[in-house]
Amino acid sequence: PVLVVDYGAQYAQLIARRVREARVYSEIVPHSMSTADMLAKDPAAIILSGGPASVYAEGAPSTDPALFDAGVPVFGICYGFQSMARALGGTVAQTGTREYGGTAVDITSEGALLAGSPERQTVWMSHGDAVHAAPEGFTVLATSEGSPVAAFEDVDRRLAGMQWHPEVKHSALGQQAMERFLYDVAGITPEWTPGNVVHDQVEAIRAAVGSDRVICALSGGVDSSVAAALVQKAVGDQLTCVFVDHGLLRAGEAEQVEQDFVAATGVNLKVVDAEERFLQALAGVSDPETKRKIIGREFIRVFEEAAREVVAEAEAEGTTVGGEVKYLVQGTLYPDVVESGGGEGAANIKSHHNVGGLPDDLQFQLIEPLRTLFKDEVRAVGLELGVPESIVWRQPFPGPGLGIRIIGEVTRERLDILRAADAIAREELTKAGLDRDIWQCPVVLLADVRSVGVQGDGRTYGHPVVLRPVSSEDAMTADWSRVPYEVLATISNRITNAVPEVNRVVLDVTSKPPGTIEWE
Ligand code: XMP
Repeated sequence: PVLVVDYGAQYAQLIARRVREARVYSEIVPHSMSTADMLAKDPAAIILSGGPASVYAEGAPSTDPALFDAGVPVFGICYGFQSMARALGGTVAQTGTREYGGTAVDITSEGALLAGSPERQTVWMSHGDAVHAAPEGFTVLATSEGSPVAAFEDVDRRLAGMQWHPEVKHSALGQQAMERFLYDVAGITPEWTPGNVVHDQVEAIRAAVGSDRVICALSGGVDSSVAAALVQKAVGDQLTCVFVDHGLLRAGEAEQVEQDFVAATGVNLKVVDAEERFLQALAGVSDPETKRKIIGREFIRVFEEAAREVVAEAEAEGTTVGGEVKYLVQGTLYPDVVESGGGEGAANIKSHHNVGGLPDDLQFQLIEPLRTLFKDEVRAVGLELGVPESIVWRQPFPGPGLGIRIIGEVTRERLDILRAADAIAREELTKAGLDRDIWQCPVVLLADVRSVGVQGDGRTYGHPVVLRPVSSEDAMTADWSRVPYEVLATISNRITNAVPEVNRVVLDVTSKPPGTIEWE
């Protein structure tokens, strides 16, 4: 792999993604990892990321000079660039001036790293200290007002660095520089493709599972669907997927899983229709956290029952080893793996529940075939496996479903109202070609609020629905989407005409923070 050493800013994940976009496999490692441990991973190259510290600050992470003597290509970015310059005997000065945001740099020598770059370009900077003298043997490639040495390389030793952030889209030629480093300086051949991922994962799953049986909780979302499709390709009928239909899904979703997904992948599917059970458990409950807990609890119970049935069936067929189903598939993604390594407990804003959140005391070993992948790679793998586009491109949908989009008690009537309104909003956003611009658009029914309207000659006393279209990179922060007025007008007209209980459509114009994406 290419190792991306994380110096503590949010840039390491972005760098790792850009390396993958260049079709080279990458992994993030903490800066506290020893040089020996890094080298033990047999890295094709090492990239030192940006970080918030000054190299002079007390306790600032430093870079082991031995790293540069191992014959492994190294690319230093921002903090990593300064740290590299310092470790190799260059000068890093505390200038007291900061360069931040779009900054002009002059290319004084293209070298290998900046081959084909225009003489002057705008790049994304964010730093205080600056490299004033390159270490011996290095060629200076670029300068800016605040950075006398803004990029350098030593092609013979396969070392290079730059003060700016090539991983950020605001650095127009950033990806080009990343590729020049990977292909030309480090000499790596780009071979990381969805096809290869599928091939490697299928081998790995087969080796791990042998002839045992595997179970998977399928939610209909992208992650669990692609994970299931991969395992299905690897071990076929040894896999049984359990799809708990809790009755809180959107219009058409259960059918997409039960028909389209099964047709495309041939998975063994066990559908549990648990609508009645969930509705009963939710009767009379309005508090958001209580609803979330009930839905999470019921989900686990239903899944456990289904799992026991799968085990019993497998036993009857004589296809288990030791009388159990041994493996559980989970759609854990790489950002979860990286972030859970961080260890710092975030405040409990909401009790999230998803099919990945099954409790530990379920007696299964985990198979997590997406553990090394970013979301966009999961989609690419899904397409490669023939998972229907309607699922591959599905927007995020919370585990508790429409249960947390009805403000107030959840009842079947209210679910039907919300489903009808939601289907119209989704259809119009798709028609307007906005699906890829919008991260997701919850439609929320304010079931306990009533508003007066007029229809024909009559007074109505109905409910408002809220449209909550947001744009986001990762759901941690979000902004409300500037959906064109005409699209909003059409959605509003159609909903108020087609759904008699709804006489008002309102737009949520709150960013996150302070608002969360979902209303509950
Ligand atoms: P919030 O509302 O916290 O949502 O800003 C952030 C993202 O998470 C989704 N979400 C959930 N996903 N189980 C899930 O799998 C949950 O319980 C859950 N609650 C919120 C939400 O749709 C958004 O994408």
